[in-house]
Amino acid sequence: MSDLIILAIETSCDETSIALVKNGRTILSNIIYSQIAIHQSYGGVVPEIASRKHIEKINEILTLAVEESKVTIEQINAVAVTYGPGLVGALLVGVNFAKGLAYSISKPLIGVNHIEGHICANFISNKELKPPFLTLVVSGGHTHLVKVTDYGKYEVVGKTRDDAAGEAFDKVARSIGLGYPGGPLIDQFSKRGNPKAIDFPRTFLEKDTLDFSFSGIKSAVINYQNSLSMKNIELIVEDVAASFQEAVVDVLVSKTIQAAKKYDIDTITLAGGVASNSRLRDLMSEECNILGYHFHYPPIELCTDNAAMIGCAAYYKYLNNEFSDYSLNAMPNLEFS
Ligand code: KG4
Ligand code: ZN
Repeated sequence: MSDLIILAIETSCDETSIALVKNGRTILSNIIYSQIAIHQSYGGVVPEIASRKHIEKINEILTLAVEESKVTIEQINAVAVTYGPGLVGALLVGVNFAKGLAYSISKPLIGVNHIEGHICANFISNKELKPPFLTLVVSGGHTHLVKVTDYGKYEVVGKTRDDAAGEAFDKVARSIGLGYPGGPLIDQFSKRGNPKAIDFPRTFLEKDTLDFSFSGIKSAVINYQNSLSMKNIELIVEDVAASFQEAVVDVLVSKTIQAAKKYDIDTITLAGGVASNSRLRDLMSEECNILGYHFHYPPIELCTDNAAMIGCAAYYKYLNNEFSDYSLNAMPNLEFS
């Protein structure tokens, strides 16, 4: 079979990204324009600004991605795009751009779920990886434990009932004055802190559930902060960051191992922005070593939002003949199941 090349577009939040991916697992180009610096002064992503920046940048990103890939328009087999979940205005920019592009070059269109994209990043960074395996998807908006039973076939076995793990990192970081985006800052500050300094609660919910809850720990950090300020005691940011991170990671790792045992799966992967977290990677790796499980996670640039992962997910959709028509619309609350 000749090479199958997908041009993929990702604009669901604050990264404008276009990639060209060969046969699902080889990146020909993956251009990522991050708006983080723009949103930083607001303490979080401003949806209106995100959409406008995507519009301003997307043409330039397309040119860079195509040039770097050395692919001609004729060689492209399909145009893929994230159509949800995400910020509606941001998604609309990518979806409409993808439709216009697919139409103008007469290639099929493939809509991709952003969460599926995150999972597929593992196929790019680990060429040997094949289903079945278990993935912990931890991003700014989602926390899912997913059984990947085959290419493009997923079974969600657990998810958060309130805040996503990344959301908890971002909210706690803001509350203790670290700024945005909170996850990487908490990770950095934790390296100089004592993870045992404060005993923040670990919410495991009912004994058999694989669901998560992170709203309790977020409130616990805020309560701790308030109680210190009432006593005029200065907060040790590094210790709060490390203790909070340890509690979250502890729950994420325990539940993932519980799921692996329950479903008898010996390969575990991480996906999503929080998969960049150094403590999560280390603790999961330690546990997997003890149990003799295979463990894999993508490099940081493939954990956070990027279009290459969308191109990989679209490749398996292409093989399954799962194409979209021009009625494809942005779906901000698109479920993953
Ligand atoms: O997957 P992603 O780029 O966007 C969404 O789909 O949400 O994830 C962004 C999230 C943010 O909450 C960010 O704080 C978190 O990933 N994050 C981290 C780290 N790097 C990014 N959280 C913890 N530790 C990190 N090193
Ligand atoms: Zn994401």
